Amino acid sequence: MTIHIGAKPGEIADTVLLPGDPYRAKWAAETFLDNPRCINQVRGMLGYTGTWRGHSVTIHGSGMGMPSLSIYANELIRDFGAQTLIRIGSCGAMQPQVGLRDVILAQTASSISTPSRGIFRELNFAPCADFALLSAAHKAAQDKGVTTHVGGIYSSDVFYDERPDLNEQLTRHGVLAVEMEAAELYNLAARHNRRALAVLTVSDHLLTGKALPSSEREQSFGDMVEIALTAAFS
Ligand code: HPA
Repeated sequence: MTIHIGAKPGEIADTVLLPGDPYRAKWAAETFLDNPRCINQVRGMLGYTGTWRGHSVTIHGSGMGMPSLSIYANELIRDFGAQTLIRIGSCGAMQPQVGLRDVILAQTASSISTPSRGIFRELNFAPCADFALLSAAHKAAQDKGVTTHVGGIYSSDVFYDERPDLNEQLTRHGVLAVEMEAAELYNLAARHNRRALAVLTVSDHLLTGKALPSSEREQSFGDMVEIALTAAFS
């Protein structure tokens, strides 16, 4: 048991999927895992452990933004020994060739700041995904017939962004999409020698203003869960 996770020792699996939304954690666990058990409810941040094809898996909410994700990822890694952490979440596309519902596998994540800034100071550390996970997720997404893009994303500190000039530069430099958590997940995985990946579905498009209707979000979310699980145990 930690400050933010009420699970007992041994109740968290080596492999943890991290959706931002705790209710998505509940839905994914009840939909894809056998015998899901709720192992955390502290502050409403739901976590479940069950099995997938015989492998033990935890699906735990991260909350929105890097400061929130940092709390859960730190405790999952340092106190519960999580080895493989895969973010599953939504993102906003920043390139014309990226469409709604496409899957993005974040090879690296740029940021203005992360909770690790206090360590890195003047260093622009380049957080990157675990290659074996990335390549297995790419294969799983191709096998599913999902349009997939691999490349850099931007982990922003704000959803309601007031820097159109910066978004323009990110687009100009080929950044595929914006979300709010991956960079710090990759920083923490690097620090603790764990495996991490962010599998993202495009829920909205910054260049066109289009957004996925809520009725279609569940299907796209399900694809991501299956891609993440397949990659974790490839
Ligand atoms: N900005 C930040 N995070 C996001 C977005 C966005 O436009 N869409 C989905 N997650």
